[in-house]
Amino acid sequence: MAHNIVVMAAGKGTRMKSALPKVLHPLAGRALVQHVLDTMAPLPASRRILITGHGAEAVEARVLGEGLSFARQMPQLGTGHAVQQALPLLDDAAATTLILNGDTPLVRRETAEQLAAACAGTCLALLTVELADPSGYGRILRDASGAVLGIREHKDASDAERQIREGYTGMMAAPTALLRRWLGQLTNDNAQGEYYLTDIVAMAVAEGVPVVATLAGSESEVLGVNDPLQLADLERRFQRQQAERLMRAGVRLLDPARFDLRGRIHHGCDVQIDVGCVFEGEVELGDGVQIGAHCVIKNARIAAGAVIHPFTHIEGDAQLVEVGEGALVGPFARLRPGARLGREVHIGNFVEVKNSQLAAGAKANHLAYLGDAEVGERVNYGAGSITANYDGAAKHRTVIEADVHVGSNCVLVAPVRVGAGSTLGGGSTISKDVPPDRLAVARARQVLIEGWKRPTKKPKGENQT
Ligand code: UD1
Ligand code: CA
Repeated sequence: MAHNIVVMAAGKGTRMKSALPKVLHPLAGRALVQHVLDTMAPLPASRRILITGHGAEAVEARVLGEGLSFARQMPQLGTGHAVQQALPLLDDAAATTLILNGDTPLVRRETAEQLAAACAGTCLALLTVELADPSGYGRILRDASGAVLGIREHKDASDAERQIREGYTGMMAAPTALLRRWLGQLTNDNAQGEYYLTDIVAMAVAEGVPVVATLAGSESEVLGVNDPLQLADLERRFQRQQAERLMRAGVRLLDPARFDLRGRIHHGCDVQIDVGCVFEGEVELGDGVQIGAHCVIKNARIAAGAVIHPFTHIEGDAQLVEVGEGALVGPFARLRPGARLGREVHIGNFVEVKNSQLAAGAKANHLAYLGDAEVGERVNYGAGSITANYDGAAKHRTVIEADVHVGSNCVLVAPVRVGAGSTLGGGSTISKDVPPDRLAVARARQVLIEGWKRPTKKPKGENQT
């Protein structure tokens, strides 16, 4: 059964004290409202409507959703007023309308399904939560038999009503036709001068429409974000959930509290991840991969048995950075977009690789730069050597064929090719192609000067001209 799905995201989020609209603040790298939309994406929906208002243009430009349409709420006169703006877009053939909050990112799809099922196009279904500290929340009013009578907003509640610990989560499912009628009857005669969506509960009760209030399974999934503190709290809860999922699937996290995944990890067996790592985008970790402490890894495919030593930064883009089987990378290495390392390649400390391919067994162990280069098997690329790949206008390629030995501190001025088996003398600036199996030396010869005296400091007081 397809429903109308309405997500409210027009509020200002004053307490974030931010120029960015609240619902665009990232949680695990994704906008808060995007979490809600992504979670609900698999639900069959006849209409998906996002209510925007504060920062509407930015929100509409940034969120992604199949078949998503926007209803603008200008100005923002309350949650009831918000849903009123969505009415023209609702499909009346869809008997149930789900209403969700854009700032409650951990809501589960199962919960929305349960709400919709409880509504079934005839009842008003509310999601509620028992809170240790319910202040700020609308309270669920019940009669002596436990039947729901209505929702009282915190600011309108009496002292006695404020003792009630059952709060409204901001999520409900309502019969579409009744919702239309009830929203038309809202007034703003309350402490905040707003049109409260929650007022429809008393209307349902007055008309004898059954009201079902279901308690949420977990507190996390109904927590909203109002300030940076709550955002950080939800971030840790979300990261914990992801960490637990990975550990149950066999990944060894040395400390799940110091693990951050802002995307997805696809992994084999016996993967181990040390503390303080951040993973972004799509990351594949083959069997037995080990990631050292404090690595940042984005869009990468790391093959079986590879070891990434601490403090390494791997940053792929749409094209993944590739690390071959058994390769060793880091510590303090940097792999940029287009870096493709073959089997058992070694990349050591302070080595940067960009848009370059290194064939099996090639090594660049210290302080080096490889950009726009093709490096053959077993090449040894010496400390301090760089490819000068950019002439100020265009990028050029460097080709280093198999078994070349590049001495320390060489500059390879691209475009240039070094033939298989050749050796480049340390300190050489290579700007012309080198045929195979030669020694190329391109530096000034050493001169020895007899009788040369090192300058000495003059004693104090003497004239220094
Ligand atoms: C609302 C509920 C309250 C509930 C609480 C749970 C009402 C009147 N009150 O209160 O019972 O306990 O959520 O968090 O519904 N929004 C708009 N347009 C507006 C106002 C709000 O789109 O004019 C959106 C916000 O962006 C947010 C959601 O509605 O996503 C909730 O708004 P918020 O101001 O946080 O509602 P509360 O007053 O906290
Ligand atoms: Ca709120």
